[in-house]
Amino acid sequence: MLSVVLVGTGNVAEHLFHAFEDNEAVNVLAVMGRNALQQHPFGEKFLRHTNYENLPQADIYLLAVSDSAIAEVSERLSSDQRFLVHVSGATPMERIAGERKGVFYPLQTFTKGKTLDFKDIPILVEANSSELQTLLLELGKNISQTVQVVSSKKREKLHLAAVFANNFVNHLFAISETICIMEKVSFDLLKPLIYETAHKLETLTPKQAQTGPAKRGDMETMKKHLSQLNDNQTKDLYTLMSQAIQNYHEKEL
Ligand SMILES: NC(=O)c1ccc[n+]([C@@H]2O[C@H](COP(=O)([O-])OP(=O)(O)OC[C@H]3O[C@@H](n4cnc5c(N)ncnc54)[C@H](OP(=O)(O)O)[C@@H]3O)[C@@H](O)[C@H]2O)c1
Repeated sequence: MLSVVLVGTGNVAEHLFHAFEDNEAVNVLAVMGRNALQQHPFGEKFLRHTNYENLPQADIYLLAVSDSAIAEVSERLSSDQRFLVHVSGATPMERIAGERKGVFYPLQTFTKGKTLDFKDIPILVEANSSELQTLLLELGKNISQTVQVVSSKKREKLHLAAVFANNFVNHLFAISETICIMEKVSFDLLKPLIYETAHKLETLTPKQAQTGPAKRGDMETMKKHLSQLNDNQTKDLYTLMSQAIQNYHEKEL
């Protein structure tokens, strides 16, 4: 059985905690949160620590803290030759202080209270020793079907790709919702379209799946859309996105 101390009490810490809690091969010895007053949804039977000094000995210390806190928190834990592992997509492994370090990055978007099945979440691992790499692969395989060794450089590129695929696309949903709210029509009417946009990728590439006025070169519709938008930032975004789609599909137009 692998023993783990979880440092952090945010989105990812909560999801990892529940994934490990449901797994007989992983034992969460303690959850470490810097804020004693905060209410955490972690089970009562587990130790809750607010002091770095008294943490129990564990195989792996998972630092599920903000990217900007990884260096500082690892500095405080780096004595005793512990295996310190962050869970960030955008942070190089070398940001961790100490000699025994690794990465356990779940490639998914996590929000507190929104349940996810970890089996479907790819976990990208990295370590600066084969001993820790083996432990991280074992830890990952206990909760996920997809566990891969990926270097910091490649992981950072995957994180960049994820920002386009998730963060930017979600912001476009927000703009879409704002238009619906302003026109007093239900955003729910667009949900089947949103789900199909994602499901199409099961059988088509994003290039094959592209439709719409920009892809068709339908200038009249694009002009009409622009005239219906009031704020300049959304107009600029519409123009930029349409140009990007046209450039990408240039040869076909
Ligand atoms: N959210 C995602 O979708 C996602 C996906 C994959 C990976 N990640 C990675 O997961 C890690 C945690 O992200 P999150 O979304 O869980 O963030 P979060 O919900 O904001 O939680 C951050 C945690 O870090 C703690 N923290 C911040 N600064 C600290 C410091 N100086 N010392 C000690 N603890 C500190 C916070 O404590 P307080 O509550 O006391 O402020 C909180 O427990 C990050 O490395 C992030 O890149 C996030």
